[in-house]
Amino acid sequence: MILPIVAYGDPVLKRKALSISEDYEGLEQLIESMWETMYHAHGVGLAAPQIGKSIRLFVIDGSPFADDEDATPSDQLVLKSFKKVFINAEMIAEEGDDFSFTEGCLSIPDIREDVTRPSVIRLRYLDENFKERVEEFSGLAARIIQHEYDHIEGVLFTDKLSPLKKRLIKGRLDKISRGMVDSDYRMKFYTKSKKR
Ligand code: NI
Repeated sequence: MILPIVAYGDPVLKRKALSISEDYEGLEQLIESMWETMYHAHGVGLAAPQIGKSIRLFVIDGSPFADDEDATPSDQLVLKSFKKVFINAEMIAEEGDDFSFTEGCLSIPDIREDVTRPSVIRLRYLDENFKERVEEFSGLAARIIQHEYDHIEGVLFTDKLSPLKKRLIKGRLDKISRGMVDSDYRMKFYTKSKKR
C-alpha cells in the first residue's frame, strides 16, 4: 500500500524513534508498504518516521545511485545490489575523511543541498528476519544510511547546514510545512492552521 509521506514541519520527523520487538504488529506488511511508497516516490531510502511511525526502521535500495556521477567504481559495485531493511539500528562509529555530497529528502521536496559527513560507518542492526548484523559501510552506501539513520534520531539533513544556508532556505521550508509545494507523490502536511 502506498502511504502518504510526512512533510517537513511535522513533529514526528524531529522525534527520536523507539526500538521495536519481533512481534511488532503488522511489521511485514509495514515493510512491504514502505518499499512500495519509496519506489513510487523514486527515493533510495525511506524511514518509518516519514510515514508517521516513530520506530527505528528504515529501508534502502541504493541501486539508482550506482549511476550517480559522484559514484566511484567501488560505490557502483556495492550499490548495484544494495537493498536492505534496517531495524533498531545503532551507529557504532563514524570515521574516515569527511566528504561532501548533495542530499535531498522525500519529506523536503525540491530542496537539495551539499552535506558533509564522515565517509566510513560501522552499524549494528537487525535485518528483516531480526538477525543481528554488525557491518562497515563506506562511500555512498554509508551516506544513504547516515541520512536514513538521522531520520530515526529525529534529525533532517537541513539541520546539518550552515546558519547562512539555513537562513537562505527558511522561506522554502516554511512553505513546505504549510503544504505549498508540488510533489508527484502523496504527502501529509502538519498544518498549524487547524488551531486558528
Ligand atoms: Ni530523508
